[in-house]
Amino acid sequence: MRLPTIPDLGDLGGRSVLLRADLNVPLHDGEVADDTRIREVVPTIAVLVEAGARVNVCSHLGRPKGRPDPAFDMAPVRRRLADLAPGVDLLDNLRFDPREEAGDPALAARLVAGHDVFVSDAFGACHRAHASIVGPPRLLPSAAGLLMLVEAAEILSLRRAPRRPFVVVLGGAKVADKLGVVEAVCSMADIVLVGGAMCFTFLAAAGHDIGASLCDPDHLEDCRALLAAGHPLQLPEDLVGLGPGGRLGEPAAGGAVRQFGANLPDGWLGADIGPGTAASFADTIADAGTVFWNGPLGAFEDPRFAAGTATVAEALAETRAHTVVGGGDSGAALTSMGLARSVSHLSTGGGASLALLEHGDLPGLAVLRASAERFSLPLHEVDERD
Ligand code: 3PG
Repeated sequence: MRLPTIPDLGDLGGRSVLLRADLNVPLHDGEVADDTRIREVVPTIAVLVEAGARVNVCSHLGRPKGRPDPAFDMAPVRRRLADLAPGVDLLDNLRFDPREEAGDPALAARLVAGHDVFVSDAFGACHRAHASIVGPPRLLPSAAGLLMLVEAAEILSLRRAPRRPFVVVLGGAKVADKLGVVEAVCSMADIVLVGGAMCFTFLAAAGHDIGASLCDPDHLEDCRALLAAGHPLQLPEDLVGLGPGGRLGEPAAGGAVRQFGANLPDGWLGADIGPGTAASFADTIADAGTVFWNGPLGAFEDPRFAAGTATVAEALAETRAHTVVGGGDSGAALTSMGLARSVSHLSTGGGASLALLEHGDLPGLAVLRASAERFSLPLHEVDERD
């Protein structure tokens, strides 16, 4: 893929840059709980400031439903950004304005007013055709930031030329959100390992009893079709279940915890892959050439059901394969285990990395290419990893 880059914007001395970042970070007690996304955009800010530009940063934070909401105030993010990159301004939460998620060009016009160029480093939000993502490149000469280039190169290289065997590990709750990517990776990967709550719709489609586990009846047929197509999909062969009366995340509420094979009795909720499956997934990861992982393998926030995700995270940290982790919960799991630096690339984009892997392009990238054509900027091959 070819994208315009910051040097293509010419001399930035004295010019005003609107920088779209994804500073959608977790907050706890009014402070930033994990500043990874803020730290990751600092190199782009440094390049712009060193070039003599004035930088105004904009981002969304959370899902405030189009109106101001103190729970999603940018103040904590602004404080952290001021520590890491002093002297740049951060606008208010873009999603306080309903026009952001509606993709309204009027909001984009307001955002770009007073700016000379636009830089997009918001990889994590580039799968959203929101006003601040797709609007400014239509109005100003625009370029991809440094983080955007690295993220795009990492994910696109998985599609282009992964070292084999290429193993994809998918977990998470909602099978509906993942079916597209499951189908796409089935044609790219050598093995696709499926866990997390989404595996129960697959297990039901394969004829297993899933007890009280999460099942999406609207997508049973899609799962059946994927299983019947002879794809290299592997489902769990053993499970950890929570008995009747128990509640996820509330060990004090009681409820028995037991290991099962691939079938669960009535009333039992599947909450993690079993130790046999975790060991087998770890062996597959150890022998891989490339691994992409997105989504926890069980309800890992509850210590009773964290073992499957922990085993997979440790296997990723130990394998000699090139390892790429899509952000979101799998990134949070790695970080909480102190393993974030042990993988080759931890993406800042959960949904964005899945969408780019599935489609090979994103609205926020396509619009940068179109912008380059409109403003006669050169395009450069994204430096895909060999
Ligand atoms: C993310 O956290 O994945 C991005 O910031 C996008 O947020 P969204 O899913 O609320 O659009």
